[in-house]
Amino acid sequence: KNSRRMLIAIDGPAAAGKGTLARTIAHALKLPYLDTGLLYRAVARKVLDKGVDPQLHSAEEQARHLKEDDLKRHDLRTSEVDIAASLVAAQPLVRQALMGFQQKFAQERGGVLDGRDIGTMICPNADVKLYITASAQTRARRRWLQNGGQLGDPQEKAGILHLLREIEERDSYDRNRTNSPLRKADDAQTIETDDLTPEQVFQKAMAIITSHLQQD
Ligand code: DC
Repeated sequence: KNSRRMLIAIDGPAAAGKGTLARTIAHALKLPYLDTGLLYRAVARKVLDKGVDPQLHSAEEQARHLKEDDLKRHDLRTSEVDIAASLVAAQPLVRQALMGFQQKFAQERGGVLDGRDIGTMICPNADVKLYITASAQTRARRRWLQNGGQLGDPQEKAGILHLLREIEERDSYDRNRTNSPLRKADDAQTIETDDLTPEQVFQKAMAIITSHLQQD
């Protein structure tokens, strides 16, 4: 156990707060952090730049030639990329091409990885597995606020509804694909975050991690 650093897998649907939680845990435990969604986003971005349909084979080629610098681009979180990332992520050859990088990261450095299939496929032997979720309505509302929306704004209802539809579409695509669909690992602990602040989610996660450390 001491021969490698702790490995924490965090999965869950879109906009559930996995990224914020994963980053905070990594910081608190001084572990490296990998946002695996960024890999699929970077592939999608390159495919879109080339003007190719994200469902075509060229996505695999982009995945095989992905560079660290591709992950640093500032245009990876647009709604166009949200949708394209979900489409390229459904392709088995794309997933296969990105698997090595993720597993190498986990094996060499340990750390916190977040995504959709970390506990089930990428790191089935993770020390701690968390499944972070919230209703689609909560997630849409949070995303709206995150994007700079104000509560009470006349556009609020329509804005949230639009995000809700996007989130539901992406969820259903990520859950129902044949290859490594979004699924809670059997040995993952679920945190329902609807009624929790980010700080409370962090406290719950740390309680789970600490109790795991005490077991060993
Ligand atoms: O976490 P995110 O929203 O940045 O992820 C973008 C897309 O990438 C998401 O729609 C599904 C896909 N993804 C995946 O299939 N497997 C992962 N481990 C991470 C993301």
